[in-house]
Amino acid sequence: MSTSDDNAKQISPEAAGDDDAASSSEIEKKEQGNGSFGPVTLFFILGFAVSLILGWVISPELLYSQKKQPIDYNHLLHVAEVDDGCESCHFFRADGTFSGIPKLEMCIDCHEEVQGEDPEEIKFVEEYVVKEREVPWLIYSRQPDSVFFSHAAHIKGAKMDCVTCHGPIGESETSRVYEENRITGYSRDIWGKNIAGFKKNSWDRMKNG
Ligand code: HEC
Ligand code: HEC
Ligand code: HEC
Repeated sequence: MSTSDDNAKQISPEAAGDDDAASSSEIEKKEQGNGSFGPVTLFFILGFAVSLILGWVISPELLYSQKKQPIDYNHLLHVAEVDDGCESCHFFRADGTFSGIPKLEMCIDCHEEVQGEDPEEIKFVEEYVVKEREVPWLIYSRQPDSVFFSHAAHIKGAKMDCVTCHGPIGESETSRVYEENRITGYSRDIWGKNIAGFKKNSWDRMKNG
């Protein structure tokens, strides 16, 4: 029996059975032996492809919940309003620790009352300034508690730029959505957009190390 003959019979075993019962059972045996290699390999490849797609493309979307900042904040506008650029709000305290996100007291000089017609400013003044409540900002770069990060070492010591790690937040006009990992509760900025860890920009992944 030639191989091409074999293949022809595999495609249509019923037709083969009609011809001759003995040869058909022989073909069945052959199919169980080496013929099953084809479908199994195919299923394996398909299954592998499907799990790659699920794992790399779909599950990151399911894994992260999207949250909006409590107030949409315009950095560009504010950097133009203050005298010392970023340091007006994000500065080092006398003991060398980094102030992080500014507290309400640093906004009050300008926002004791609503100044303009921006709905975000009205919301900010009515819900936080008047009620003396701190804004519960979501921190994109928040590290797990086990990680100690020193801004002083990186900014004063290594003279690194904010953009290198955080991306262009300081020039943005709106706060981007915050993506929280449903399982770990961490920000998506820690592991980055891509599970495989490819980075297009230095700030795509903020995992320490
Ligand atoms: C008038 C005060 C003010 C100034 C000036 C200011 N920021 Fe901010 N910054 C904020 C507030 C409020 C937030 C929290 C809201 C947010 O994340 O959008 C913030 C958040 C950030 C964050 C997000 C950190 C994180 O991981 O969540 C970065 C990065 C940042 N600022 C960088 C800068 C840079 C760079 C500059 C200078 C170009 C700057 N900021 C100037 C008030 C300020
Ligand atoms: C030096 C003065 C100054 C300081 C300090 C300041 N702001 Fe403003 N802010 C302004 C001005 C001016 C506007 C534009 C007024 C308008 O059109 O509503 C504004 C607009 C806003 C708006 C509406 C536009 C936007 O960003 O979406 C929000 C919200 C706001 N400020 C929040 C804050 C918060 C929070 C802080 C403290 C971290 C702060 N501001 C500190 C001057 C200031
Ligand atoms: C070497 C990388 C790196 C550089 C450079 C850097 N940051 Fe950060 N930043 C981080 C990390 C990591 C965190 C999270 C720290 C944590 O969770 O304890 C963070 C947190 C912050 C936060 C939120 C802190 C909080 O808890 O309120 C602000 C605001 C911020 N950075 C602003 C800045 C500004 C402004 C600059 C430039 C002057 C800057 N960062 C430079 C890595 C960096």
